[in-house]
Amino acid sequence: MADAEIKYGLAGVIADDTAVSKVMPETNSLTYRGYAVQDLAAQCRFEETAYLIWNGELPTKAELDDFNAKEKRERGLTDDLIAVMRKFPKGAHPMATLRTAVSFLGIEDSEIEDHATDKLYDRAISLYAKIPQIVATDFRLRNGKEPIAPDNNLGFAENFFHMCFGEVPAPEIVRCFDISMTLYAEHSFNASTFTARVITSSLSGIYSSVTGAIGSLKGPLHGGANEAVMDMLKEVGSAENAKAWMLDALATKKKVMGFGHRVYRSGDSRVPTMTAAFKDMVDIIGTDEAKMYWEMSRALDETMVSEKGIYPNLDFPAGPAYYLMGFEIPMFTPIFVVSRITGWTAHIMEQLGDNKLIRPLSNYTGPAQRDIIAIDKRA
Ligand code: COA
Repeated sequence: MADAEIKYGLAGVIADDTAVSKVMPETNSLTYRGYAVQDLAAQCRFEETAYLIWNGELPTKAELDDFNAKEKRERGLTDDLIAVMRKFPKGAHPMATLRTAVSFLGIEDSEIEDHATDKLYDRAISLYAKIPQIVATDFRLRNGKEPIAPDNNLGFAENFFHMCFGEVPAPEIVRCFDISMTLYAEHSFNASTFTARVITSSLSGIYSSVTGAIGSLKGPLHGGANEAVMDMLKEVGSAENAKAWMLDALATKKKVMGFGHRVYRSGDSRVPTMTAAFKDMVDIIGTDEAKMYWEMSRALDETMVSEKGIYPNLDFPAGPAYYLMGFEIPMFTPIFVVSRITGWTAHIMEQLGDNKLIRPLSNYTGPAQRDIIAIDKRA
């Protein structure tokens, strides 16, 4: 097989059909089930988007109420899982603890061999309900605090804040989080989603697929960029230093986190929505630190666009927004999972709807076939 036929990294390969989302490089845009992601973020709560991603249509009021009631019934972790989480090493990365906790949910599920589509949807909602509590519980335990049980009087985003901090912040802050959830929910055949589909294709079960997807997202080339953005902003240190820092980074050919995209070449359609939500939050918080991160990110953005014509991606406004909400930097990728579980599980269901084992070919580059030399004769 000639090298020319190999698509390294599967770049440009169309691996299957999907009706979940469409990435349009020509317009830098993204739709979920035909709706522009920025319209969903502006006009719908994340719960509506989650329903849409799974069911293909936005819910009626009655359907949404029913869906939310189902999610609330699925909240809550077993005492066994919380006991296991107490034993996790405090220094473990929150993506590693999340991966282990989701795998544990799989061994607690007695119907794991059942691949019926209706059961899959129930499990998807169960994961969507339980993953926020796993992330919040892990955050509290690693900080020497007791876990907080979910509050069924609270919606999805409010409940996550409650379980992390024991309180719900101003509505603008909750709204900013909710918008980020919608924007991160789905992105076609990225590495973690494709991983989920590959695992699904061997009929291994939804928990294996989601555990594998978490492992894929954990990598710094995929989900870790929002954490890296915040580390970079801390390194920049002040708004005044931002322009000089960026010029130096470009002069020394540094990769600047939160800029550029493999698909979107002149701006990511999710960014203006997330940036506006971040600004609303900065105004509500009103601290010098919040203003400093806002001004710093504006200066970095302007300098990068004017010097190199490289635009920010979603991680650029999302990183400092999560930081100002009070989340620890290593939690940013698990928070991404709180949202992306919707897209992953929609793809798992779609894959099983018309499954074909995913098994590509490879171009062998090792030695030609040869005879074994007896062990006492080998040099
Ligand atoms: N900082 C500095 N320079 C960058 C850059 C960045 N974030 N992104 C791209 N460039 C440069 C490249 O080095 C390249 O320069 P060269 O022509 O001198 O070699 C040029 O811009 C064109 O790069 P391009 O082909 O568009 O990038 P890519 O498709 O190979 O990479 C990413 C895309 C996302 C991997 C890359 O932009 C990146 O690493 N970004 C930072 C990490 C990040 O934010 N990831 C989250 C993605 S959602």
